[in-house]
Amino acid sequence: MPLEISSHVWSEIDADWLIVCVSDSSEFSGALSDLNQSTGGLLKRLFDQKDATGKLAELVPVHAPNGIKAKRLLLVGIGAVDSLDRVKFEKAAMSALRNVATKKEVSVAFALPEQLDPNLSANTAAEVIGTASRVATAGQDLLKSEATRFEFVRVHLIANPDLADAARRGEVLGEAINLTRELINLPPQHLTPESFAERAREVSAGLGLSCDVMDRDRLVVERMGSLLAVAQGSVEPPRVVVIDYKGGAAGAPTLALVGKGVTFDSGGLSIKPTDGMLTMKCDMAGAATVLGAITAIAKLKLPINVTAYMGLVENMISGSSYKLGDILKARNGVTIEVQNTDAEGRLVLADVLSYAVDRGVDRIVDLATLTGACVVALGEEVVGSMTNNQAWCDQVSTAAKQAGELMWQLPMFDLYTDLLKSDVADCRNIGGRWGGAITAGKFLEKFVSGKPWVHLDIAGPAFASSNKPHREGGATGVMLRTLVELAAGGIEAPA
Ligand code: BES
Ligand code: MN
Ligand code: ZN
Repeated sequence: MPLEISSHVWSEIDADWLIVCVSDSSEFSGALSDLNQSTGGLLKRLFDQKDATGKLAELVPVHAPNGIKAKRLLLVGIGAVDSLDRVKFEKAAMSALRNVATKKEVSVAFALPEQLDPNLSANTAAEVIGTASRVATAGQDLLKSEATRFEFVRVHLIANPDLADAARRGEVLGEAINLTRELINLPPQHLTPESFAERAREVSAGLGLSCDVMDRDRLVVERMGSLLAVAQGSVEPPRVVVIDYKGGAAGAPTLALVGKGVTFDSGGLSIKPTDGMLTMKCDMAGAATVLGAITAIAKLKLPINVTAYMGLVENMISGSSYKLGDILKARNGVTIEVQNTDAEGRLVLADVLSYAVDRGVDRIVDLATLTGACVVALGEEVVGSMTNNQAWCDQVSTAAKQAGELMWQLPMFDLYTDLLKSDVADCRNIGGRWGGAITAGKFLEKFVSGKPWVHLDIAGPAFASSNKPHREGGATGVMLRTLVELAAGGIEAPA
């Protein structure tokens, strides 16, 4: 059910939980002061006793408070108002909503703070609450006998009704993020290239988008020798999925979103150790993010043409696995010497990128859980970006900033390309020990035919190892918001 929005006297709202933001200044004015009065000075008392401090994301639940209609009150800290930005506010909102989403059939009323600093507009705050109201209720518990998180029966945003569109936009983003998270969190025996493609087809049909699912025979016809080599060791047949959204004019430029969709990465014959393999169901996060993003872009009816490309394979070990020393021929004719079967993501993307280029694109962004080296370089929370076109990369990075997502650019000097040289083929699929995130990026660059392209290595942030109060462990849906923000900003045809 969509969120309701209306201005309302806080103490008179009927809900299981009334969520109210408090800053660390312990000064109550406006609606907060009214609430303090209706509750007989409760807020002031809590601050005086240091039971509440307003520290960012601190939660102070009050059961059966006097003087208000809501059954329970939850104070959530937002820290210092003058340094409150989108990311911090989201941390507070997510902590509060995740906390109350652990019980069945809960109704919540979230009071939008009256005082916000220029760092955070009321529109952005409303959007954040919309997104959080969806993301907070979905967990990793897909196959648990007893669920651990529940959808709210009702969400009431207490705010100016002018903010309804922003809140609704937030909900659309939250639903898309949940689709992406669900696909990533599903175990690899359930989520295969085939079942992923089937889901993509259903989702597209629901939105009236055209969806082309290519099976193995078709991929042979399309000469995707590099992608097919990765898939050949698995009993699960590969798929490439292409979804078109045409929100722009007929001749307007097209944005291609390309995702790595390795539904399980065992490493192949260059097999991963158990610890490294344990979370490799997440290796289709790029494809899941691209699918989630295009659903949000379509629901928001953004005036732009976007095509999503998903390369779906399983990287397994068997008598038919591709081998070290194999020389593959990619769709664009480039021959590749396989020196490590665990560097499979780039082999999948190579063919999907050149397919996208051949089909006609003006701007490309690819997303992939591509290298452990990127996680070593930037840590678990920052996306690595690489590009052949600085202006386009700047546009993506502006969108990321707007969306509150962290990415950092890595250099693409020519010297890195030399590391991919092979004695027996046009190139090899690994670049050696050093600069692994970048040599992977340099490999992909060979398949975009000079089109403006940004590669996002999401290996670190796509999948979180543990639960935190403000976010569930497992899939995060990172970069989905950035992609939607990017599409909302529009693109120009390259010069
Ligand atoms: N899917 C992995 C990268 C990865 C690592 C994703 C950690 C998420 C978390 C990728 O296919 C891979 O195995 N890359 C190799 C490349 C190497 C063989 C050149 C790696 O990073 O070790
Ligand atoms: Mn791998
Ligand atoms: Zn992989």
